[in-house]
Amino acid sequence: MPLVLITGANRGLGLEFARQYAAAGWDVIACARKPEAAEALAALAAASDGRVVVEQMDVTDHASVDAAARRLEGRAIDVLLNSAGTMGRGTTGKEGFPTNTFGALDYTDFEEILRVNVVGPLKVTEAFVGHVARSSQKKCVAISSVVGSIAENTSGGLYAYRGSKAALNAVMKSLAIDLGSKRGILVAMLHPGWVRTDMGGPRASLDAPVSVAGMIKVIAGLDAGQSGRFWRFDGKELPW
Ligand SMILES: NC(=O)c1ccc[n+]([C@@H]2O[C@H](COP(=O)([O-])OP(=O)(O)OC[C@H]3O[C@@H](n4cnc5c(N)ncnc54)[C@H](OP(=O)(O)O)[C@@H]3O)[C@@H](O)[C@H]2O)c1
Repeated sequence: MPLVLITGANRGLGLEFARQYAAAGWDVIACARKPEAAEALAALAAASDGRVVVEQMDVTDHASVDAAARRLEGRAIDVLLNSAGTMGRGTTGKEGFPTNTFGALDYTDFEEILRVNVVGPLKVTEAFVGHVARSSQKKCVAISSVVGSIAENTSGGLYAYRGSKAALNAVMKSLAIDLGSKRGILVAMLHPGWVRTDMGGPRASLDAPVSVAGMIKVIAGLDAGQSGRFWRFDGKELPW
């Protein structure tokens, strides 16, 4: 069975990815920074006949990323799925709208957003590239956001989150070039839509199962000609 490793799998889109890949018969390594508090994930793992395994990983704690990579040494990871992300503490947490505005920016928060959304996926890819290279599918995926598209930015604001997703796209594009030619690894950046999670808030337009089912289809269809591009959950390509 193919194997997917998912970061931020204890809630939101990451948890839904774990559910859907497990239901499709995949083996799942579901990463959470606090496994002891990941109750929904523990329930999924308990009901999975050992196919869903929970691993501790905080993507900003590089020692924890390296430790997870060492524990999983020798495993072949078909899809490395970077879902963990944050809008920072300048959000309401309910509606997902940042309260940080120009003139009152919190730069400590800004740096933390970059650590989670940009440096985190890059470090995870660096630590696990060998695991991906020995798999059949060889795919590295990052959950980005349409707000990282410079062409689509018509509303301004969102400095840290928008900047982090644009930077994530730039980083993943370089990985597509560097890892594609040398190791045959495919890379995709995905926009999930506006989804009802803790981040998206209750007024979002999509349910997580719909968004994730669409993204799994896009990942499954990814081939060498599509690597290094930016896709919406429904398969429509997005501009940079
Ligand atoms: N929901 C949307 O409408 C939407 C739209 C566009 C893009 N996205 C992107 O989709 C991805 C998933 O978002 P979501 O809606 O599922 O968000 P969410 O419900 O807020 O969940 C965020 C997940 O990321 C994890 N996380 C945060 N910091 C972490 C760290 N340092 N190390 C490891 N895990 C960490 C959280 O773990 P804890 O529980 O430990 O905090 C949680 O599992 C993100 O990259 C987000 O930017 C979401």
